[in-house]
Amino acid sequence: MAKVLIVYYSAYGHIYEMAKAVADGVKQAGGEVKIAKVPEFPAVKEAMSAQPAYQAAQQLQADVPEVTQDDLTWADGIIWGVPTRYGMMPAQMKQVLDAAGGLWAKGALEGKPTAVFTSSGSIHGGQETTILTTLVPLLHFGMIFVGLPYGENQEQLTAEGIGGSPYGASTVAGPDGSRRPAEAELTMASRLGTRVARVASALAAAK
Ligand SMILES: Cc1cc2nc3c(=O)[nH]c(=O)nc-3n(C[C@H](O)[C@H](O)[C@H](O)COP(=O)(O)O)c2cc1C
Repeated sequence: MAKVLIVYYSAYGHIYEMAKAVADGVKQAGGEVKIAKVPEFPAVKEAMSAQPAYQAAQQLQADVPEVTQDDLTWADGIIWGVPTRYGMMPAQMKQVLDAAGGLWAKGALEGKPTAVFTSSGSIHGGQETTILTTLVPLLHFGMIFVGLPYGENQEQLTAEGIGGSPYGASTVAGPDGSRRPAEAELTMASRLGTRVARVASALAAAK
């Protein structure tokens, strides 16, 4: 059974909701899944905790454990939930990667399948750049990138303003954060989880 870790950062809950859909997909493929959140920066907590939406979303995630380096080595596959910050990953997520330099030095994540899901405020706010720039450090770790192909994700073939691309699953939170992940976005997120779990199993069987 493939062990899949979902590491995410979510200020307002959209990525957390997507993470749960990804986890369902891992389970559907018979995988074992662990969801872990990225620790918040004290300065960001202080700046944002006056916002009711931030407070409510953090409350919902209160029981989710914070990611550890042991989680990263435990996993056969790792899926990253990365909301857009100025078109790329949040610094909170980068700090987790930067702190894992010891794992990089040992090649501890090499050969593990990986994927990214994202969220942005606006439809062209940087979903694709966020996923593709997140891929850069993941390749330094030697991970094997898993995308979201059109064949099983026909929802992507649309002119409507929904998330989902060949690069990974995504949702649009809306400029004021009030839009929730749509059914099609959650479905694609779930399929991403299934795909990583299947790739992780196949790679483990081939060893
Ligand atoms: C500091 C900051 C920078 C952001 N930069 C962008 C951006 O470049 N493009 C965009 O569409 N949304 C941007 N957003 C909106 C977030 O991407 C959005 O709130 C997030 O995807 C919602 O996910 P969450 O509910 O899991 O936090 C930004 C938000 C913050 C707080």
